[in-house]
Amino acid sequence: MHKVHCMNVIAKVGTDELGDGYQIVDDIEGADAIMVRSAKLHDTTFPASLLAIGRAGAGVNNIPLDRCADEGIVVFNTPGANANSVKETVIAALLMASRDYVGGIEWVRENSDDPEVGKAAEKAKKQFSGNEIAGKTLGVIGLGAIGAMVANAARSLGMKVLGYDPYLSIKAAWSLDRHVKHVTNLDDVLAASDFITIHVPATPKTKGMIGRDEIAKMKDGVTFLNFSRDSLVDEQAMAEALDDGHVAKYVTDFANSVSANMKNAIVLPHLGASTDEAEDRCAIMAARELKDYIENGNIVNSVNFGECDLGPITADARVAVIHKNVPNMIGHITSVLSGAGVNIENMTNKSTGERAYTLIEITGEVDPEVADQIAAIDDVVRVRIIRAAK
Ligand code: MLT
Repeated sequence: MHKVHCMNVIAKVGTDELGDGYQIVDDIEGADAIMVRSAKLHDTTFPASLLAIGRAGAGVNNIPLDRCADEGIVVFNTPGANANSVKETVIAALLMASRDYVGGIEWVRENSDDPEVGKAAEKAKKQFSGNEIAGKTLGVIGLGAIGAMVANAARSLGMKVLGYDPYLSIKAAWSLDRHVKHVTNLDDVLAASDFITIHVPATPKTKGMIGRDEIAKMKDGVTFLNFSRDSLVDEQAMAEALDDGHVAKYVTDFANSVSANMKNAIVLPHLGASTDEAEDRCAIMAARELKDYIENGNIVNSVNFGECDLGPITADARVAVIHKNVPNMIGHITSVLSGAGVNIENMTNKSTGERAYTLIEITGEVDPEVADQIAAIDDVVRVRIIRAAK
């Protein structure tokens, strides 16, 4: 029985997806896998039994990816599974920033005791009016699953859209409305956009990527939307730009002691992906990724190892080895296997920086000592023999 420990509430459809042979356990000790949403794992000690972590969501800044890789733990996320929900929130944010719906709602609440509130509203409404978003220019920084959906939705609402992504994937490029203009220089997006929305992962490299200099390059009166992570923006510089009016509005999904006190900011409590649909899709996708890794050794959508996918096991077993990315590792592993008299049917290997993963499908009986012999090779981190289900 494989044990899965949930560090947050995970949608039941997701834990159900694990199916027979899996048990949700309260204790992390002895767990084969963790399912997590936003719980911070940086200070968590992982048991030696832990093979994988499934993050039901896109951002993985709550997980120590390098330490996990060093300990032979594969971390998965669920790219795209909550993209539609985030896209819908970003569109709501664009509209909230253009017209003062929030102020208007508050006004009605404050005047709810007035029997003539309807008449008063007709007089008061002028102060909450604004502008259409149609015809305005939206700059989208990051054209992954969410950014591409936002760009397309904005196009269908009549906006001009500039997209910036130095790592644009072919899949994302194909999914983009043909009128989204791909811009290769971030400064050009900053200077030309009435609205800017950022959709990039929070990593040490992207920390503060919207700093004082970038803000200074933006158009006067720009609105900046942040539905990725607060660490991407120098929020002190943003607060000053809001104070002096250079930035008209900052709409952020990340409440913190700086953003919560900003003038002209609309601050949400991380609602972008908070829909039943997104939580279900993320949980199902995370469960499938974990199952595929545990049962077949396949790595798909990992954020700390490269993709290695041999499909379902068709021979007798697979040998799955996490190791350092050093010369002749495959030679060492295959010579143990040939010494044990097993036949290699198929294999894949992927290295990512200093680490690598090798997955070998074999026919023939494998003694448990084979795993011990492979584990004894220098720079091998973890070995599993995965037998085909009978
Ligand atoms: C994500 O990273 O997927 C979203 O911000 C929502 C979440 O943190 O779960």
